[in-house]
Amino acid sequence: MNITIVLGTAREGRLSERAAFMLERQLAAKNQNATIIDVAQLDLEIFKGLHGKYEYNNPKLDEAKTQLETADAMIFVTPEYNGSIASSLKNFIDLFAKKPFDGKPIGVCTVSSGAMGGIRAAYQLQQIILSIFAYPQPRMLTIGNIQNHLDSEGAILTDDFAKKTEQFLSAFLGWAGKFIIP
Ligand SMILES: Cc1cc2nc3c(=O)[nH]c(=O)nc-3n(C[C@H](O)[C@H](O)[C@H](O)COP(=O)(O)O)c2cc1C
Repeated sequence: MNITIVLGTAREGRLSERAAFMLERQLAAKNQNATIIDVAQLDLEIFKGLHGKYEYNNPKLDEAKTQLETADAMIFVTPEYNGSIASSLKNFIDLFAKKPFDGKPIGVCTVSSGAMGGIRAAYQLQQIILSIFAYPQPRMLTIGNIQNHLDSEGAILTDDFAKKTEQFLSAFLGWAGKFIIP
């Protein structure tokens, strides 16, 4: 399966990249073709109009759109900032919505340095995914105290988290696979 992981924050020193690296590694270990779109590397402009209608003159956005279009499934990774998703992720989604997302299965992964794992952002992201005519995976991966569970390269540090990740990914692959018409 082609799976695009969207890393939704550009904050310097972000911990969320650990979650994206971990997902990429774990999916590769399950023989999936997982790639990351990193909003920090897109020279992302603030939303001025739909990509394709407004001229952004940014080839990186064209590449990102192709990556979205060729994905069978996606996972959005976002920290919780002020009780919601990262504004850069919303900006990214709004640029392309809805066509490259339409009808696709999308997993939700939220990150927090605190105990709650970004649960408020997670529920909001499910609603946003519905708004772009995509399907949010019911089981989400909310990562609290991320610094305790993942190292800077996305290696898993604790048994509890390894189990939680395995549950999420096996559910994700089983569920997303149902959307692929042979
Ligand atoms: C602007 C800002 C707002 C934040 N708001 C929340 C919040 O509402 N809930 C929460 O659990 N953590 C919050 N945090 C802390 C994040 O959990 C923390 O930055 C964490 O490392 C995940 O985000 P990162 O990828 O930017 O590192 C906030 C951090 C920032 C920078």
